[in-house]
Amino acid sequence: MRQSRSAVLTAEKKPVRMKLLILTDFHYYGEGKRGSISSRRGDLVPSLLDQIRTRETDCDAVAVLGDLINDGTVPDARENLHVLRERMDFNVPLIAIPGNHDSDPARFAEVFGEPKAFCVNGVRLIPFVDSYDADDVCTRDFRIMAQELAAIRPGEIAVTLQHNTILPEIRETYPYTPVRFREIHAAYRDAGVKLSLSGHFHPGIDPFIEDGVTYACIPALCESPFRYAVADITEDGINVELRTVCLP
Ligand SMILES: [Fe+2]
Repeated sequence: MRQSRSAVLTAEKKPVRMKLLILTDFHYYGEGKRGSISSRRGDLVPSLLDQIRTRETDCDAVAVLGDLINDGTVPDARENLHVLRERMDFNVPLIAIPGNHDSDPARFAEVFGEPKAFCVNGVRLIPFVDSYDADDVCTRDFRIMAQELAAIRPGEIAVTLQHNTILPEIRETYPYTPVRFREIHAAYRDAGVKLSLSGHFHPGIDPFIEDGVTYACIPALCESPFRYAVADITEDGINVELRTVCLP
């Protein structure tokens, strides 16, 4: 039986859809160690990751948004990164970007792999590794950003990943938002980016839409109530759901 051309096209078209697990801000100090900020329970993170791994078995990819270790300058920083990497074997593509606390992007990439854009089920994940000065002021490389955004293909849903929040501007003395953040937003808007995911601001910020871009800041896993997120990304819309892990 012959199929009409429209039927063939319909059959070939794959649905654009991704279920994305998002984890951020572990602030791991090393096994059993806690730092001076009592609210940061990095010591619990390995067992929290074990719970998440058991629970989240149907995601298409995992995004990890930085500050995995609390102090990238200590001698056991690399070992601490390895401890975390071993707890994140989700059997799906994993993309991790360093935050300001991870200190050394090259060392981070040796453990987690070089963060590179990739596409799953028509959803393109675009990581940005931003730079930090001694005061944690965050700077984006606009040349690299332009290249990455230009690579978005028609029909793809583009999702950017970065440690710092882009919008809204967080007006505190600590530099939560990067310099030139409004220009970053304009570039996302003009490129048709649909979702921008960040961590860094530990309480998190509920998703909101600005000029067609959904911005979501995911809460820190290391702070009560120990949250992470699952984003359902489809052509029909984006839903970012926060989930809580029980204390071990
Ligand atoms: Fe941070």
